[in-house]
Amino acid sequence: MTEASGPAAAPNTPPPGCPAHTAHPDAVPLSGLEYQQTPFDLYRSLRSKHGSVAPVLLDGGVPAWLVLGYSEVSYVTAHDELFARDSRRWNQWDNIPADWPLMPFVGYQPSVLFTEGAEHRRRAGVITEALESVDQFELGRECAYIADQLIASFAGRGSAELMSVYTHPLAMRAAVHMVGMPPGAADTEALVEDLRMSLDAAEGDDPVAAYIRVGERVHHLVKERRQNPAADVTSRMLEHPAGLSDEEIVQDLISVIAAAQQPTANWICNALRLLLTDERFALNVSGGRLSVSQALNEVLWLDTPTQNFIGRWAVRDTQLGGRRIRAGDCLVLGLAAANADPQIWPGAQVGSENSAHLSFSNGEHRCPYPAPLLADVIARTAVETLLERLPDLVLAVDPAELTWRPSIWMRGLTALPVQFTPVAQ
Ligand code: HEM
Repeated sequence: MTEASGPAAAPNTPPPGCPAHTAHPDAVPLSGLEYQQTPFDLYRSLRSKHGSVAPVLLDGGVPAWLVLGYSEVSYVTAHDELFARDSRRWNQWDNIPADWPLMPFVGYQPSVLFTEGAEHRRRAGVITEALESVDQFELGRECAYIADQLIASFAGRGSAELMSVYTHPLAMRAAVHMVGMPPGAADTEALVEDLRMSLDAAEGDDPVAAYIRVGERVHHLVKERRQNPAADVTSRMLEHPAGLSDEEIVQDLISVIAAAQQPTANWICNALRLLLTDERFALNVSGGRLSVSQALNEVLWLDTPTQNFIGRWAVRDTQLGGRRIRAGDCLVLGLAAANADPQIWPGAQVGSENSAHLSFSNGEHRCPYPAPLLADVIARTAVETLLERLPDLVLAVDPAELTWRPSIWMRGLTALPVQFTPVAQ
Protein backbone atom coordinates (compact mmCIF):
# COMPACT_ATOMS: atom_id res chain seq x y z
CA MET A 1 0.00 0.00 0.00
CA THR A 2 1.41 3.46 -0.84
CA GLU A 3 0.78 6.15 1.74
CA ALA A 4 0.12 9.83 1.00
CA SER A 5 3.35 11.72 1.51
CA GLY A 6 5.12 14.97 0.52
CA PRO A 7 3.22 18.05 -0.58
CA ALA A 8 0.08 16.15 -1.58
CA ALA A 9 -0.47 14.80 1.95
CA ALA A 10 -3.38 16.24 3.93
CA PRO A 11 -2.18 18.43 6.83
CA ASN A 12 -3.42 16.00 9.51
CA THR A 13 -2.28 12.84 7.80
CA PRO A 14 -0.35 10.70 10.27
CA PRO A 15 3.25 9.96 9.27
CA PRO A 16 3.88 6.66 7.47
CA GLY A 17 4.32 3.83 9.95
CA CYS A 18 2.02 5.51 12.49
CA PRO A 19 -0.48 2.97 13.84
CA ALA A 20 -3.30 5.45 13.17
CA HIS A 21 -2.89 4.61 9.48
CA THR A 22 -4.26 1.15 9.98
CA ALA A 23 -6.70 1.90 12.79
CA HIS A 24 -10.42 1.73 12.19
CA PRO A 25 -11.82 5.32 11.98
CA ASP A 26 -14.19 4.64 14.93
CA ALA A 27 -11.58 2.91 17.09
CA VAL A 28 -11.92 3.65 20.81
CA PRO A 29 -8.89 4.05 23.12
CA LEU A 30 -9.05 1.19 25.60
CA SER A 31 -7.20 2.97 28.35
CA GLY A 32 -8.65 5.86 30.31
CA LEU A 33 -9.36 6.13 33.99
CA GLU A 34 -13.11 6.57 33.74
CA TYR A 35 -13.32 3.31 31.79
CA GLN A 36 -11.03 1.50 34.15
CA GLN A 37 -13.21 2.40 37.12
CA THR A 38 -16.49 1.35 35.47
CA PRO A 39 -15.67 -1.26 32.82
CA PHE A 40 -19.27 -2.43 32.50
CA ASP A 41 -20.30 1.00 31.24
CA LEU A 42 -17.50 0.84 28.71
CA TYR A 43 -18.53 -2.60 27.48
CA ARG A 44 -22.20 -1.64 27.31
CA SER A 45 -21.49 1.49 25.28
CA LEU A 46 -19.02 -0.30 23.02
CA ARG A 47 -21.53 -3.04 22.40
CA SER A 48 -24.34 -0.64 21.58
CA LYS A 49 -22.11 1.38 19.24
CA HIS A 50 -20.00 -1.33 17.62
CA GLY A 51 -21.75 -4.67 18.17
CA SER A 52 -19.94 -7.72 19.46
CA VAL A 53 -16.49 -6.95 17.99
CA ALA A 54 -15.25 -3.39 18.63
CA PRO A 55 -12.29 -1.63 17.01
CA VAL A 56 -10.06 -0.37 19.85
CA LEU A 57 -6.74 1.36 20.34
CA LEU A 58 -4.26 -0.11 22.78
CA ASP A 59 -1.55 1.96 24.51
CA GLY A 60 0.16 4.28 22.02
CA GLY A 61 -2.77 4.10 19.60
CA VAL A 62 -2.03 0.56 18.41
CA PRO A 63 -5.16 -0.89 16.76
CA ALA A 64 -6.78 -4.15 17.85
CA TRP A 65 -10.23 -5.75 18.09
CA LEU A 66 -12.01 -6.19 21.40
CA VAL A 67 -14.24 -9.27 21.21
CA LEU A 68 -17.23 -8.53 23.45
CA GLY A 69 -19.81 -11.16 22.59
CA TYR A 70 -20.10 -14.45 24.49
CA SER A 71 -20.54 -16.47 21.32
CA GLU A 72 -17.76 -14.54 19.50
CA VAL A 73 -15.25 -15.11 22.35
CA SER A 74 -16.29 -18.78 22.42
CA TYR A 75 -15.82 -18.96 18.64
CA VAL A 76 -12.41 -17.25 18.59
CA THR A 77 -11.03 -19.44 21.37
CA ALA A 78 -12.46 -22.63 19.85
CA HIS A 79 -10.92 -21.93 16.41
CA ASP A 80 -7.20 -21.78 16.96
CA GLU A 81 -6.63 -22.61 13.29
CA LEU A 82 -8.07 -19.12 12.54
CA PHE A 83 -7.19 -17.18 15.69
CA ALA A 84 -3.88 -18.36 17.02
CA ARG A 85 -1.53 -17.56 19.89
CA ASP A 86 1.85 -16.90 18.28
CA SER A 87 2.10 -13.11 18.50
CA ARG A 88 4.90 -12.99 15.92
CA ARG A 89 2.24 -12.91 13.19
CA TRP A 90 1.04 -9.48 14.42
CA ASN A 91 0.83 -6.95 11.57
CA GLN A 92 1.67 -4.07 13.96
CA TRP A 93 5.18 -4.98 15.09
CA ASP A 94 6.70 -2.12 13.06
CA ASN A 95 4.72 0.31 15.23
CA ILE A 96 5.58 -1.14 18.60
CA PRO A 97 8.50 0.24 20.61
CA ALA A 98 10.64 -2.17 22.64
CA ASP A 99 9.47 -0.57 25.91
CA TRP A 100 5.77 -0.79 25.03
CA PRO A 101 3.83 -1.30 28.30
CA LEU A 102 2.04 -4.42 27.03
CA MET A 103 5.25 -6.05 25.80
CA PRO A 104 5.42 -8.51 28.76
CA PHE A 105 2.07 -9.95 27.57
CA VAL A 106 2.55 -9.93 23.80
CA GLY A 107 6.31 -10.33 23.33
CA TYR A 108 6.90 -13.87 22.05
CA GLN A 109 8.49 -16.27 24.54
CA PRO A 110 9.23 -19.93 23.86
CA SER A 111 6.71 -21.04 26.54
CA VAL A 112 3.45 -22.97 26.43
CA LEU A 113 1.63 -19.64 26.16
CA PHE A 114 2.80 -18.92 22.60
CA THR A 115 3.07 -22.43 21.14
CA GLU A 116 0.47 -23.77 18.74
CA GLY A 117 -0.93 -27.03 17.36
CA ALA A 118 0.88 -30.28 18.16
CA GLU A 119 3.66 -28.46 20.02
CA HIS A 120 1.09 -26.76 22.26
CA ARG A 121 -0.68 -30.04 22.94
CA ARG A 122 2.66 -31.56 23.94
CA ARG A 123 3.56 -28.71 26.32
CA ALA A 124 0.04 -28.17 27.72
CA GLY A 125 -0.41 -31.94 28.11
CA VAL A 126 2.61 -32.10 30.41
CA ILE A 127 1.31 -29.19 32.52
CA THR A 128 -2.20 -30.64 32.67
CA GLU A 129 -1.00 -34.05 33.84
CA ALA A 130 1.40 -32.54 36.37
CA LEU A 131 -1.37 -30.32 37.79
CA GLU A 132 -3.83 -33.25 37.78
CA SER A 133 -1.64 -35.11 40.21
CA VAL A 134 -1.70 -32.31 42.79
CA ASP A 135 -3.50 -33.70 45.85
CA GLN A 136 -6.28 -31.16 46.44
CA PHE A 137 -6.66 -32.08 50.13
CA GLU A 138 -2.96 -31.62 50.71
CA LEU A 139 -3.08 -28.32 48.79
CA GLY A 140 -6.01 -27.19 50.97
CA ARG A 141 -4.08 -28.10 54.14
CA GLU A 142 -0.98 -26.25 52.94
CA CYS A 143 -3.05 -23.18 52.01
CA ALA A 144 -4.66 -23.19 55.48
CA TYR A 145 -1.17 -23.34 56.97
CA ILE A 146 0.04 -20.45 54.76
CA ALA A 147 -3.11 -18.49 55.63
CA ASP A 148 -2.56 -19.04 59.37
CA GLN A 149 1.04 -17.87 59.12
CA LEU A 150 0.06 -14.72 57.24
CA ILE A 151 -2.88 -13.96 59.55
CA ALA A 152 -0.61 -14.40 62.59
CA SER A 153 1.63 -11.66 61.22
CA PHE A 154 -1.12 -9.02 61.44
CA ALA A 155 -3.85 -10.45 63.73
CA GLY A 156 -2.53 -8.64 66.81
CA ARG A 157 -2.80 -5.25 65.13
CA GLY A 158 -6.59 -5.06 64.71
CA SER A 159 -6.31 -3.70 61.16
CA ALA A 160 -4.64 -4.68 57.90
CA GLU A 161 -4.47 -3.96 54.19
CA LEU A 162 -5.33 -7.41 52.89
CA MET A 163 -4.00 -7.16 49.32
CA SER A 164 -0.41 -6.69 50.42
CA VAL A 165 -0.35 -8.85 53.56
CA TYR A 166 -2.75 -11.63 52.62
CA THR A 167 -4.25 -12.21 49.17
CA HIS A 168 -1.14 -11.66 47.02
CA PRO A 169 1.42 -13.40 49.28
CA LEU A 170 -0.98 -16.31 49.84
CA ALA A 171 -1.59 -16.97 46.14
CA MET A 172 2.12 -16.66 45.43
CA ARG A 173 3.14 -19.02 48.24
CA ALA A 174 0.51 -21.56 47.16
CA ALA A 175 1.82 -21.51 43.56
CA VAL A 176 5.43 -21.79 44.67
CA HIS A 177 4.49 -24.66 47.01
CA MET A 178 2.85 -26.58 44.13
CA VAL A 179 6.00 -26.43 42.04
CA GLY A 180 8.02 -27.75 45.00
CA MET A 181 9.77 -24.87 46.75
CA PRO A 182 9.97 -25.78 50.47
CA PRO A 183 7.92 -23.38 52.67
CA GLY A 184 9.87 -20.88 54.76
CA ALA A 185 13.26 -21.60 53.12
CA ALA A 186 15.39 -18.53 52.29
CA ASP A 187 15.35 -19.47 48.60
CA THR A 188 11.55 -19.70 48.59
CA GLU A 189 11.21 -16.30 50.24
CA ALA A 190 13.64 -14.76 47.72
CA LEU A 191 11.69 -16.32 44.81
CA VAL A 192 8.40 -15.03 46.21
CA GLU A 193 9.86 -11.51 46.48
CA ASP A 194 11.38 -11.60 42.98
CA LEU A 195 8.13 -12.88 41.50
CA ARG A 196 6.23 -10.07 43.21
CA MET A 197 8.67 -7.55 41.77
CA SER A 198 8.57 -8.96 38.26
CA LEU A 199 4.78 -9.38 38.11
CA ASP A 200 3.69 -6.28 40.02
CA ALA A 201 6.63 -3.90 40.38
CA ALA A 202 6.39 -1.15 42.98
CA GLU A 203 8.28 2.13 42.70
CA GLY A 204 12.02 1.57 43.01
CA ASP A 205 11.83 -2.13 42.03
CA ASP A 206 13.80 -3.41 39.06
CA PRO A 207 11.35 -5.88 37.45
CA VAL A 208 13.78 -6.95 34.71
CA ALA A 209 16.54 -7.90 37.16
CA ALA A 210 13.93 -9.63 39.34
CA TYR A 211 12.66 -11.62 36.32
CA ILE A 212 16.20 -12.78 35.52
CA ARG A 213 16.64 -13.98 39.11
CA VAL A 214 13.27 -15.80 38.90
CA GLY A 215 14.58 -17.66 35.84
CA GLU A 216 17.80 -18.58 37.66
CA ARG A 217 15.99 -19.85 40.75
CA VAL A 218 13.49 -21.92 38.75
CA HIS A 219 16.40 -23.30 36.74
CA HIS A 220 18.10 -24.29 39.96
CA LEU A 221 14.89 -25.98 41.16
CA VAL A 222 14.63 -27.97 37.89
CA LYS A 223 18.26 -29.12 38.15
CA GLU A 224 17.76 -30.09 41.77
CA ARG A 225 14.61 -32.10 40.96
CA ARG A 226 16.40 -33.92 38.14
CA GLN A 227 18.72 -35.26 40.85
CA ASN A 228 16.14 -35.66 43.64
CA PRO A 229 12.57 -36.03 42.38
CA ALA A 230 9.76 -35.29 44.84
CA ALA A 231 5.95 -35.25 44.85
CA ASP A 232 5.59 -31.89 43.13
CA VAL A 233 4.62 -30.36 39.77
CA THR A 234 8.24 -29.81 38.72
CA SER A 235 9.21 -33.47 39.24
CA ARG A 236 6.09 -34.66 37.41
CA MET A 237 6.91 -32.46 34.45
CA LEU A 238 10.44 -33.85 34.40
CA GLU A 239 9.20 -37.44 34.60
CA HIS A 240 6.61 -37.00 31.83
CA PRO A 241 7.18 -39.26 28.79
CA ALA A 242 6.92 -36.22 26.43
CA GLY A 243 10.54 -35.58 27.45
CA LEU A 244 10.52 -31.76 27.71
CA SER A 245 13.99 -30.20 27.96
CA ASP A 246 15.04 -28.43 31.16
CA GLU A 247 14.78 -25.10 29.32
CA GLU A 248 11.20 -25.84 28.20
CA ILE A 249 10.26 -26.85 31.74
CA VAL A 250 11.78 -23.67 33.21
CA GLN A 251 9.76 -21.53 30.75
CA ASP A 252 6.55 -23.42 31.45
CA LEU A 253 6.99 -23.44 35.22
CA ILE A 254 7.40 -19.66 35.19
CA SER A 255 4.24 -19.44 33.05
CA VAL A 256 2.36 -21.66 35.50
CA ILE A 257 3.43 -19.63 38.55
CA ALA A 258 2.70 -16.29 36.86
CA ALA A 259 -0.62 -17.51 35.43
CA ALA A 260 -1.64 -18.76 38.88
CA GLN A 261 -0.58 -15.85 41.07
CA GLN A 262 -2.25 -12.66 39.83
CA PRO A 263 -5.68 -14.04 38.90
CA THR A 264 -5.99 -16.15 42.04
CA ALA A 265 -4.91 -13.26 44.31
CA ASN A 266 -7.44 -10.95 42.67
CA TRP A 267 -10.13 -13.63 42.77
CA ILE A 268 -9.65 -13.86 46.57
CA CYS A 269 -9.65 -10.07 46.89
CA ASN A 270 -12.75 -9.55 44.75
CA ALA A 271 -14.63 -12.27 46.66
CA LEU A 272 -13.65 -10.71 50.01
CA ARG A 273 -14.84 -7.33 48.74
CA LEU A 274 -18.19 -8.88 47.77
CA LEU A 275 -18.52 -10.61 51.14
CA LEU A 276 -17.68 -7.44 53.04
CA THR A 277 -19.81 -5.03 51.02
CA ASP A 278 -22.86 -6.90 49.77
CA GLU A 279 -25.58 -7.35 52.36
CA ARG A 280 -26.74 -10.66 50.95
CA PHE A 281 -23.35 -12.10 51.66
CA ALA A 282 -22.44 -10.09 54.73
CA LEU A 283 -25.64 -11.24 56.40
CA ASN A 284 -25.74 -14.73 55.09
CA VAL A 285 -22.23 -16.10 55.09
CA SER A 286 -22.13 -16.20 58.88
CA GLY A 287 -25.68 -17.57 58.87
CA GLY A 288 -24.48 -20.26 56.48
CA ARG A 289 -27.06 -19.74 53.72
CA LEU A 290 -24.70 -18.59 51.00
CA SER A 291 -21.40 -20.37 50.88
CA VAL A 292 -18.03 -18.86 50.16
CA SER A 293 -17.98 -21.01 47.01
CA GLN A 294 -21.10 -19.23 45.77
CA ALA A 295 -19.50 -15.84 46.41
CA LEU A 296 -16.42 -16.99 44.50
CA ASN A 297 -18.60 -18.09 41.59
CA GLU A 298 -20.55 -14.84 41.53
CA VAL A 299 -17.27 -12.92 41.33
CA LEU A 300 -16.28 -14.93 38.25
CA TRP A 301 -19.41 -13.63 36.56
CA LEU A 302 -19.37 -10.03 37.78
CA ASP A 303 -15.76 -9.10 38.60
CA THR A 304 -13.64 -11.71 36.93
CA PRO A 305 -9.91 -11.21 37.59
CA THR A 306 -8.74 -11.59 33.97
CA GLN A 307 -11.18 -9.06 32.50
CA ASN A 308 -9.51 -8.90 29.10
CA PHE A 309 -6.82 -11.16 27.74
CA ILE A 310 -4.40 -10.33 24.95
CA GLY A 311 -4.87 -12.32 22.90
CA ARG A 312 -5.16 -14.08 19.61
CA TRP A 313 -3.75 -13.16 16.18
CA ALA A 314 -5.68 -13.84 12.96
CA VAL A 315 -4.00 -16.50 10.82
CA ARG A 316 -5.64 -15.25 7.62
CA ASP A 317 -8.22 -12.74 6.44
CA THR A 318 -11.58 -13.67 7.89
CA GLN A 319 -14.78 -12.26 9.40
CA LEU A 320 -16.05 -12.06 12.93
CA GLY A 321 -19.20 -10.44 14.28
CA GLY A 322 -19.70 -8.71 10.92
CA ARG A 323 -16.16 -7.28 10.92
CA ARG A 324 -13.46 -7.89 8.35
CA ILE A 325 -10.44 -9.15 10.24
CA ARG A 326 -7.12 -9.03 8.39
CA ALA A 327 -4.37 -11.63 8.66
CA GLY A 328 -2.12 -10.66 11.58
CA ASP A 329 -4.76 -8.52 13.38
CA CYS A 330 -4.74 -8.74 17.16
CA LEU A 331 -7.91 -9.77 19.01
CA VAL A 332 -8.35 -9.07 22.71
CA LEU A 333 -10.60 -11.59 24.45
CA GLY A 334 -13.19 -9.54 26.34
CA LEU A 335 -13.89 -12.15 28.99
CA ALA A 336 -15.72 -9.82 31.41
CA ALA A 337 -17.80 -8.33 28.60
CA ALA A 338 -18.68 -11.82 27.32
CA ASN A 339 -19.78 -12.86 30.81
CA ALA A 340 -22.18 -9.90 30.93
CA ASP A 341 -23.42 -10.30 27.32
CA PRO A 342 -27.16 -9.46 27.21
CA GLN A 343 -27.57 -12.29 24.68
CA ILE A 344 -26.97 -14.79 27.47
CA TRP A 345 -28.74 -12.66 30.10
CA PRO A 346 -31.89 -11.53 28.29
CA GLY A 347 -33.43 -10.42 31.60
CA ALA A 348 -30.46 -8.02 32.05
CA GLN A 349 -29.75 -9.80 35.35
CA VAL A 350 -26.39 -11.52 35.55
CA GLY A 351 -26.76 -14.58 37.76
CA SER A 352 -24.28 -16.70 39.62
CA GLU A 353 -25.80 -20.15 39.83
CA ASN A 354 -23.97 -21.83 36.98
CA SER A 355 -20.35 -21.83 35.91
CA ALA A 356 -20.75 -21.28 32.17
CA HIS A 357 -18.74 -18.04 32.38
CA LEU A 358 -15.68 -17.52 30.22
CA SER A 359 -13.43 -16.42 33.10
CA PHE A 360 -11.05 -19.32 32.45
CA SER A 361 -11.42 -18.77 28.68
CA ASN A 362 -12.22 -21.66 26.35
CA GLY A 363 -10.65 -23.95 23.76
CA GLU A 364 -7.11 -25.18 23.26
CA HIS A 365 -5.38 -22.40 25.23
CA ARG A 366 -7.91 -22.08 28.04
CA CYS A 367 -6.68 -22.17 31.61
CA PRO A 368 -5.68 -25.86 31.72
CA TYR A 369 -8.45 -28.01 33.17
CA PRO A 370 -7.13 -28.80 36.67
CA ALA A 371 -5.95 -25.20 37.27
CA PRO A 372 -9.42 -23.72 37.92
CA LEU A 373 -10.05 -26.49 40.49
CA LEU A 374 -6.73 -25.80 42.21
CA ALA A 375 -7.37 -22.05 42.12
CA ASP A 376 -10.76 -22.75 43.74
CA VAL A 377 -9.12 -24.75 46.55
CA ILE A 378 -6.62 -21.92 47.16
CA ALA A 379 -9.20 -19.13 47.02
CA ARG A 380 -11.84 -20.95 49.10
CA THR A 381 -9.32 -21.88 51.79
CA ALA A 382 -7.98 -18.30 51.87
CA VAL A 383 -11.43 -16.76 52.35
CA GLU A 384 -12.72 -19.38 54.81
CA THR A 385 -9.60 -19.34 56.97
CA LEU A 386 -9.64 -15.55 57.20
CA LEU A 387 -13.32 -15.45 58.19
CA GLU A 388 -12.80 -18.21 60.74
CA ARG A 389 -9.77 -16.61 62.40
CA LEU A 390 -11.11 -13.03 62.33
CA PRO A 391 -14.90 -13.50 62.52
CA ASP A 392 -15.75 -9.83 63.15
CA LEU A 393 -13.71 -8.63 60.15
CA VAL A 394 -15.24 -5.50 58.54
CA LEU A 395 -14.13 -2.96 55.96
CA ALA A 396 -12.10 -0.12 57.46
CA VAL A 397 -13.42 2.38 54.89
CA ASP A 398 -16.71 3.19 53.26
CA PRO A 399 -17.31 0.72 50.37
CA ALA A 400 -17.44 3.70 47.98
CA GLU A 401 -13.84 4.53 48.89
CA LEU A 402 -12.50 1.22 47.55
CA THR A 403 -10.77 1.80 44.22
CA TRP A 404 -10.06 -0.62 41.41
CA ARG A 405 -6.57 -0.93 40.00
CA PRO A 406 -6.21 1.33 36.97
CA SER A 407 -6.01 -1.59 34.59
CA ILE A 408 -8.23 -2.76 31.79
CA TRP A 409 -6.60 -6.21 32.01
CA MET A 410 -6.64 -7.42 35.60
CA ARG A 411 -9.61 -6.57 37.83
CA GLY A 412 -8.61 -6.15 41.44
CA LEU A 413 -8.58 -3.48 44.12
CA THR A 414 -5.69 -1.12 44.82
CA ALA A 415 -6.18 -1.82 48.54
CA LEU A 416 -8.57 -3.72 50.82
CA PRO A 417 -8.30 -2.13 54.28
CA VAL A 418 -10.09 -4.03 57.07
CA GLN A 419 -10.39 -3.93 60.83
CA PHE A 420 -11.21 -6.55 63.46
CA THR A 421 -10.77 -7.30 67.13
CA PRO A 422 -7.03 -7.89 67.68
CA VAL A 423 -6.18 -11.50 68.40
CA ALA A 424 -3.25 -12.29 70.69
CA GLN A 425 -0.86 -14.80 69.05
C1 HEM B 1 -3.74 -22.55 40.41
C2 HEM B 1 -4.05 -21.48 39.69
C3 HEM B 1 -3.86 -21.35 38.20
C4 HEM B 1 -2.96 -21.97 37.37
C5 HEM B 1 -1.91 -23.02 37.75
C6 HEM B 1 -3.19 -21.48 36.03
C7 HEM B 1 -2.49 -21.86 34.90
C8 HEM B 1 -2.67 -21.37 33.63
C9 HEM B 1 -1.84 -21.68 32.47
C10 HEM B 1 -0.61 -22.61 32.49
C11 HEM B 1 -2.35 -21.02 31.41
C12 HEM B 1 -1.82 -21.05 29.96
C13 HEM B 1 -2.63 -22.05 29.14
C14 HEM B 1 -2.13 -22.17 27.72
O1 HEM B 1 -1.74 -21.17 27.09
O2 HEM B 1 -2.21 -23.29 27.19
C15 HEM B 1 -3.51 -20.28 31.88
C16 HEM B 1 -4.29 -19.48 31.09
C17 HEM B 1 -5.32 -18.75 31.56
N1 HEM B 1 -5.83 -18.73 32.85
FE1 HEM B 1 -5.13 -19.75 34.42
N2 HEM B 1 -4.24 -20.57 36.05
C18 HEM B 1 -4.67 -20.46 37.37
C19 HEM B 1 -5.67 -19.66 37.84
C20 HEM B 1 -6.47 -18.89 37.05
C21 HEM B 1 -7.55 -18.04 37.52
C22 HEM B 1 -7.98 -17.89 38.99
C23 HEM B 1 -8.11 -17.43 36.42
C24 HEM B 1 -9.26 -16.47 36.35
C25 HEM B 1 -10.31 -16.52 37.13
C26 HEM B 1 -7.38 -17.90 35.27
C27 HEM B 1 -7.66 -17.52 33.97
C28 HEM B 1 -6.89 -17.86 32.87
C29 HEM B 1 -7.12 -17.31 31.56
C30 HEM B 1 -8.20 -16.33 31.15
C31 HEM B 1 -6.12 -17.85 30.73
C32 HEM B 1 -5.90 -17.53 29.26
C33 HEM B 1 -6.52 -18.57 28.40
C34 HEM B 1 -6.48 -18.25 26.92
O3 HEM B 1 -5.44 -17.89 26.34
O4 HEM B 1 -7.52 -18.40 26.30
N3 HEM B 1 -6.41 -18.78 35.67
N4 HEM B 1 -3.69 -20.51 33.24
